[in-house]
Amino acid sequence: MLELGLDGVVIAPSILSADFGALDAAVDSIAADADWVHVDVMDGHFVPNLTIGPPVVAALRRHSAAFLDCHLMMTNPGDYLEAFAAAGADSCTIHIEVGNTAALVGQARRLGIGVGLAVNPETPFERVAPFVGAVDLLLIMTVHPGFGGQSFMEEVVPKVARARSAVEAAGSATLIEVDGGIDVVTAPVVAREGARVFVAGSAVFGRPDPGQACRDLRAAAAQAVVAGRW
Ligand code: DX5
Ligand code: ZN
Repeated sequence: MLELGLDGVVIAPSILSADFGALDAAVDSIAADADWVHVDVMDGHFVPNLTIGPPVVAALRRHSAAFLDCHLMMTNPGDYLEAFAAAGADSCTIHIEVGNTAALVGQARRLGIGVGLAVNPETPFERVAPFVGAVDLLLIMTVHPGFGGQSFMEEVVPKVARARSAVEAAGSATLIEVDGGIDVVTAPVVAREGARVFVAGSAVFGRPDPGQACRDLRAAAAQAVVAGRW
């Protein structure tokens, strides 16, 4: 089971917004203040952008002991799960939209890594509902996946609340993760509805001091968790 930080929130900076020529320095810059490192894998097919794959995860693993939260925006994640696990991924999140979900979740489980399930803004929550108790992470996309630096989609907030109700009903410890346009203003909005894992790219690596940005994000989210209904 994936663990929450001591204050009940997990800060997961996305290296998509970091300098790909200096990923070691980027990861070092947040090491003391982040809980996880979010790795955005894009295949140029599921999303119209290409990023990185298992060799870069392996390089990060050699450099850092951080929890590597790999977000697979891929049409055929099943062909690569084993390679990500071997490279040192701590968790892999697949998208519901690619289908074959039960088999992919089972495949990731057998590899002994954390298992996440992501849902795009336009995909109804009903699609992921049957899998809530079977995964460690539910990733609610708060932008259309593919690029960093987009604006948070307010209309997705009710889906976070739906996810929270579903996790409660399932009696599971599934963590609700949000990704896209998360910053000190939007993190509290989704924290109040049940989000506990906060992915942020531009709000961390787009700032002059990424460590301070993590601390600011943590404070904003944690305050909303304490004040929130859940
Ligand atoms: C988008 C990626 C995100 C992205 C978030 O497709 O999944 O993880 O890096 O970037 P920001 O925080 O800039 O919206
Ligand atoms: Zn992501």
